[in-house]
Amino acid sequence: MSTSIITGAAGFIGYALAHRLAQDPEHQLILIDNFLRGEDDKAYAALGERSNVTLLKIDLSAPDAIERLPDVAVDFVFHLAALNGTQNFYERPYEVLKHSTVPTFSLVEKYVTSNKVRSRFLYAGSSEAYASTVTRFNWPVPTAEDVPLSIEDPTNARWSYGVSKLHGEVLTCVACKQFGVPFTAIRYHNVYGPRMGDKHVIPDFVHRMNDQVYSLYGHEDTRSFLYIEDAVAATIQLAKAPAAADQIVNVGSTEEVTIAKLGEMMMRVAGIRAPIELFPSPQGSVKRRAPDVAKLRSITGFEPAWTLERGLAETVAWYRSHPKT
Ligand SMILES: NC(=O)c1ccc[n+]([C@@H]2O[C@H](COP(=O)([O-])OP(=O)(O)OC[C@H]3O[C@@H](n4cnc5c(N)ncnc54)[C@H](O)[C@@H]3O)[C@@H](O)[C@H]2O)c1
Repeated sequence: MSTSIITGAAGFIGYALAHRLAQDPEHQLILIDNFLRGEDDKAYAALGERSNVTLLKIDLSAPDAIERLPDVAVDFVFHLAALNGTQNFYERPYEVLKHSTVPTFSLVEKYVTSNKVRSRFLYAGSSEAYASTVTRFNWPVPTAEDVPLSIEDPTNARWSYGVSKLHGEVLTCVACKQFGVPFTAIRYHNVYGPRMGDKHVIPDFVHRMNDQVYSLYGHEDTRSFLYIEDAVAATIQLAKAPAAADQIVNVGSTEEVTIAKLGEMMMRVAGIRAPIELFPSPQGSVKRRAPDVAKLRSITGFEPAWTLERGLAETVAWYRSHPKT
């Protein structure tokens, strides 16, 4: 019998991870979210009906968060709560900073300083923490974990999220080392799939397709997209791998595509033939992003099971049958 806490469990990656781990009745799960972004929908409620799952609504940024967190020893903490979404970076940078930094303090204070984590504290980091280094210093892409983390322009709200993810990695690494808790900071790179919310390029373009508007922004920028099932598999493999302890590890795909190519693939899998109207990206947008996953491979032997085309077919179909309300 093992026990895990997953924060941000109503969100995209958190829900998929919880759903996978909940299949093992011997695994007790404590799922935490405040529904700032993740939805308290039927799928999430159904998870809570399992005998091995407890759902807790806690705002991890609130002053009483530490008191409200369960006073138990756990095997794993998967800390995924944060306020993500490019539109939020620009429109609500203060909330982005608050909800992507304070929850990490709450968890560290409750479980790390008192050494209540038996196996691993896992932190969801992001490629955003080093994106400035790639742009400003022409750092190599695909990018390995030893890239210096930096923020290009503190006056550009775009970086509210990147700096909070940089901060979260540092807090995780130093606090866990100081209090003797094994940790893994997982740097996710553009995970996608059904139930990923609406504020990402893929769902955004499907919603436009549903309205027969075929416009795409940042068409020359490149990204590498990892399907959610693969991201969950890599996360679980890293949590269990002794060699991932006290490491920062990239999780992502090596297939780098332009946003224009992504759009074409999405149109193809949706069976739509129409010209795509292409627009440049907003100020501060990251031009290229792709992870070097040699470390992930050498620690876990992980290889994605989903091709981009197959993952997009699944995602586009899901969003076409779940139109924006
Ligand atoms: N999805 C990606 O491609 C990607 C890439 C890099 C990093 N990440 C990181 O992975 C994690 C999960 O990402 P996601 O895509 O599932 O995001 P998401 O927005 O779908 O999920 C995050 C969840 O955290 C919850 N949350 C936010 N503030 C909270 C608070 N104060 N208290 C409790 N819950 C709170 C939200 O309600 C949401 O359900 C995040 O930390 C994100 O920064 C994701």
